Amino acid sequence: MAVRAGFHDEGERLDHDELAALQLRRLRETLHRAYERVPFYRQAFDKAGVHPDDCRSLADLALFPLTTKADLRDQYPFGMFAVPRSEVRRIHASSGTTGRPTVVGYTERDLSTWADVVARSIRAAGGRPGQIVHIAYGYGLFTGGLGAHYGAERLGCTVVPASGGMTDRQVRLIEDFRPEVIMVTPSYMLTLLDEMERQGIDPRATSLRTGIFGAEPWTEEMRREIEERLDMNAVDIYGLSEVIGPGVAQECVETKDGLHIWEDHFYPEVVDPLTGAVLPEGELGELVFTSLTKEAMPVIRYRTRDLTRLLPGTARPAFRRMEKVTGRSDDMIILRGVNLYPTQIEEILLRTPGLAPHFQLRLAREGRMDTLTVRVEARRESDTALRESAATAVVQAVKAGIGVSVRVEVVDPETLERSVGKIKRLVDLRTAGRPPAS
Ligand code: DLL
Repeated sequence: MAVRAGFHDEGERLDHDELAALQLRRLRETLHRAYERVPFYRQAFDKAGVHPDDCRSLADLALFPLTTKADLRDQYPFGMFAVPRSEVRRIHASSGTTGRPTVVGYTERDLSTWADVVARSIRAAGGRPGQIVHIAYGYGLFTGGLGAHYGAERLGCTVVPASGGMTDRQVRLIEDFRPEVIMVTPSYMLTLLDEMERQGIDPRATSLRTGIFGAEPWTEEMRREIEERLDMNAVDIYGLSEVIGPGVAQECVETKDGLHIWEDHFYPEVVDPLTGAVLPEGELGELVFTSLTKEAMPVIRYRTRDLTRLLPGTARPAFRRMEKVTGRSDDMIILRGVNLYPTQIEEILLRTPGLAPHFQLRLAREGRMDTLTVRVEARRESDTALRESAATAVVQAVKAGIGVSVRVEVVDPETLERSVGKIKRLVDLRTAGRPPAS
């Protein structure tokens, strides 16, 4: 395959018009496939009074109904599949914090498409064939480990399938095998960094030069923290199981300005989370995806619950970018009428001298009042005076920037629980001990 230098495959080389034509053709095929093979979509389209033939332009996609996570759960386990089960080569599932997990399936070709978009992503992040890639995303039903794995192999890298956990051993492997690239959640990268320092290893002296971080929200401030401590390029990878897994969108190392969506496979829209109306480019709303090439489990207008905006392409001009996802509607905390996201707190903490990037948010109820306590670790070198001034500074910055009062507890280094995968920032003590709402 003749591919222009710097790109992984032909799809990346498309110009804007070629991409739009390809998208429309693939969209129409996908709508037909879903309608003809998945009873759920047939019923949903019929109910909305639309037929796949009504899609004559990309904008016509807005005529079709949105799909939610609850819809997928209702079809547990295999009701969303568009191929006979015997053609499904692999199953993954998302954790499902409440109730049933969401099951996803892949045909042989889907697995190949997935490997290609992840290979493309690693290349855009700065990884190159021949390099060693240490993968510390969890292997298993979670799509992170195996998704990254086959993508790195497809690119022609040497893969170290470390998975999550056994942190001291991971650090030894990094020392001994000298990988250039690491793929891991940003919160587990911090755990690995602390472990390196505990073992007396200077993280900047390790071989790691490219970090491909995703599966959870992280901020520009966190990027700075990681890049300074590791002497590496830290870039963002995005994806979700329902759409394919990691590799739906990737930040390019040369611009680090949000994530290019691999639009030849995943068609994005941003909608108003309340009304479902499509929003114009540049406006903040809920990200929605329609798969364009998936065989086993096409998704039509799937609501991700992730909040972002669409922006024009830069390093890959034909592909639109999505702004870094810093909030998810599920993560939003409503504190005495004010909406806030854990990432807003992360930004403030990381800008405050004396504080480490390890924090937890505790939501409690006192009488009729909800209270939020930010528990954050001090950096090792912080003395009592610095801890106190840091706590005051955070209280003030949250009040000024977000408009609500919180409590701040600066705790000793290494007292908060560490992440080995996706971190859970919020502890909701208001519901602790009560049966979950149905
Ligand atoms: O987290 C897939 C993945 C694995 C992506 C490894 C990147 C790296 P799920 O477990 O289905 O799939 O969770 C998907 O995680 O809807 C977002 O809320 C969040 N998420 C994923 N990537 C990012 C990111 C994987 N880069 C959900 N920034 C998504 C912010 C992210 N949130």
